[in-house]
Amino acid sequence: MRIPLIAGNWKMNLTRAECVDLAKAVADGVGNATNYEAAVFPPSLYVDAVAGVLKGSKVAWGTQNMVAEGPGAFTGEICAPMLLDLGCTYVILGHSERRTLYGETDEIVNKKTKAALAAGLKPIVCVGELLAERQSGKTDEIIRKQFSGSLAGLSEAEFGKVVIAYEPVWAIGTGLTATPQQAEEVHAGLRKLIAERYNDTLSQTTRILYGGSVKPSNAAELLSQPNVDGALVGGASLKAADFLGIAAGVK
Ligand code: PGA
Repeated sequence: MRIPLIAGNWKMNLTRAECVDLAKAVADGVGNATNYEAAVFPPSLYVDAVAGVLKGSKVAWGTQNMVAEGPGAFTGEICAPMLLDLGCTYVILGHSERRTLYGETDEIVNKKTKAALAAGLKPIVCVGELLAERQSGKTDEIIRKQFSGSLAGLSEAEFGKVVIAYEPVWAIGTGLTATPQQAEEVHAGLRKLIAERYNDTLSQTTRILYGGSVKPSNAAELLSQPNVDGALVGGASLKAADFLGIAAGVK
């Protein structure tokens, strides 16, 4: 049984006060829901303020990135022990914006994933193809490569704590969404890769989120696909009503 996870990636948006207000509204709206889990990812600087609001609620929190190293002399960075100190449950790793804007390779994402797991955090590891890659029929190959590289060398127990997010890069922030069939196909493929490397049990228990222009109007159909176990939401997570509208799409 996979409990869907609805995750809001606030990216580099909002003020501290807006983060606090949004967190309050999300926690109120989620209430005691048991049919899904919710998590929010504010800008790192505001995680502490958001944690203060969410403590005792059903909403978990985390950061959008971290480094594998540290603590120590790594100017400007944040590391796993700091996330734990702030009560983070999750950390998003290998988001396509990190990969394309900051040069994160599968190898770097893999190091971060291992560091997060070693610290007791649950990594949400993102994979996804570019538009040109989809158009040239390379989606499977790219997903396989990112899966193998970003998630290399994890024990079964470690992998059991990983959440995967399939985010086609061409659908992020563009208003374009993968069709439910396109999403389902990649998710089913990922599940097969997990079964090949580990076993059926792990393949059936791993949560695979879809991300890329998820909104209240398309969430229910995406979330009803058998292998889609939640959503990683960017733009629409900045409004409590939209985020909760997406969560309402969970059956
Ligand atoms: P979007 O972003 O919902 O704004 O497309 C998704 C993401 O980047 O996780």
